[in-house]
Amino acid sequence: MNNKAGLNIDGQTFELDTIVGSEGEVGIDITKLRAQTGAITLDSGYGNTGSCTSRITFIDGEKGILRYRGYDIAELAKKSGFVETAHLLIYGELPTSEKLSAFSKQLTRYQLIHEEMLHHFEGFPSTAHPMAILSAMINAASSYYPTLLEKREERFDNHAARLISQVRTIAAFSYRKAKGLPIIYPKSNLKFSENFLHMMFSMPGEDMDINPDVARALDLMFLLHADHEQNCSTSTVRMVASSKANLFASASAGVCALWGPLHGGANQAVLEMLEQIHAEGDDGSKFLQAVKDKTSGRRLMGFGHRVYKNFDPRALIIKEQCDKVLAQLQVSDPLLDIAKKLEEIALADEYFVSRNLYPNVDFYSGIIMRAIGIPMDMFTVMFAIGRMPGWIANFKEVMEDPSSRISRPRQIYTGPTLREYSPIGERS
Ligand code: SDX
Repeated sequence: MNNKAGLNIDGQTFELDTIVGSEGEVGIDITKLRAQTGAITLDSGYGNTGSCTSRITFIDGEKGILRYRGYDIAELAKKSGFVETAHLLIYGELPTSEKLSAFSKQLTRYQLIHEEMLHHFEGFPSTAHPMAILSAMINAASSYYPTLLEKREERFDNHAARLISQVRTIAAFSYRKAKGLPIIYPKSNLKFSENFLHMMFSMPGEDMDINPDVARALDLMFLLHADHEQNCSTSTVRMVASSKANLFASASAGVCALWGPLHGGANQAVLEMLEQIHAEGDDGSKFLQAVKDKTSGRRLMGFGHRVYKNFDPRALIIKEQCDKVLAQLQVSDPLLDIAKKLEEIALADEYFVSRNLYPNVDFYSGIIMRAIGIPMDMFTVMFAIGRMPGWIANFKEVMEDPSSRISRPRQIYTGPTLREYSPIGERS
């Protein structure tokens, strides 16, 4: 592979270095482009621009491949669990049993939020969206750990475990507050996902019977959402981390980026779409006609992906889980039938096929969460709980990169050229 690329601008040829990734992707290194040529590149949405090199997650969108630190997502889904996968993403290796036990003990040790933080919940209206609460509370939590702000490398492992564990506690507490229910504290003898279900659905003085199948399905959902290379929210975390902001501030920014309906907010938007189709007595075919009419402004939420131009491998796994969980819970959900009908029609329709639009991770995930009893406005919070290890792994990669610089993109200015100030009386 020639490690040079040629660029011709107005008859002048420039040579640029190239970089080849461990899976053979080729990148043209433009770090010196402006100095060499005076020109910059323009790539709105960054669909063609690599912001970094990374050793964490690999995606091949054409082949529908997703690997965390080299391990295929389908194998991890079958053989691993969320906490083990979180360790893999953050530290680069599957843990030994001793390391896994130590990591789990850290998550248990840091599962409580500072008691004073409960006052913050009082300040939110009962109608506050849980993602607004989550981003605010993560930042609020940082004020209780001053070392986080002073030397972010120091005690990183403690802060990482604290964040993974507390994002789950904050989510459950915000649900209980919104419902006017007493908060349920975590229990030290429960595993990560079981503890979340306990904090969400137990009642004081009663120990909820935690359905192991539901706990396993939830754990799998967290695992499948744990990382996804340079998606919008992870890139946001890296951008904030590049200014040497602390881990909690970077994660809070990631929560805000994830909230958008084109990104993590899509799982809630999918359920709202399915509910609307169901309410209109449509089997999905009328809705898809509207989607194909650009003037309708409708999108088939949960379909399409910037990188996957084939099936999102996570969607295949979640769809399989949907059938299993609903059967185990003896739940029949008409929205699942509509989702399957939409998929069947869309995958045979030239409009979607020609645009490489396939179900993504959000298309079926909401149906499982609905079956578990998670309220719709908490779906994206669940995505954030799952994505936290990936954000932390990317933050760590920025923090440990000696060549890391503050992210500061350029622009092409298209506004007015120089003009003089005019007194207000002379303005038309
Ligand atoms: C996630 O990046 C990640 O990795 C994200 C994620 C992760 O794990 O972090 O995988 C999680 O965010 C998954 C995506 C969830 N979002 C949705 O499901 C929302 C619906 N999908 C889209 O709006 C869209 O597909 C995006 C945002 C996901 C991708 O948008 P792109 O890459 O900018 O694609 P585009 O908008 O340029 O669309 C290309 C064409 C357009 O038509 P034409 O102009 O070529 O005629 O496809 C059409 C779009 O109109 N199109 C859709 C569509 N998505 C794209 N048409 C109908 N329904 C859709 N969902």
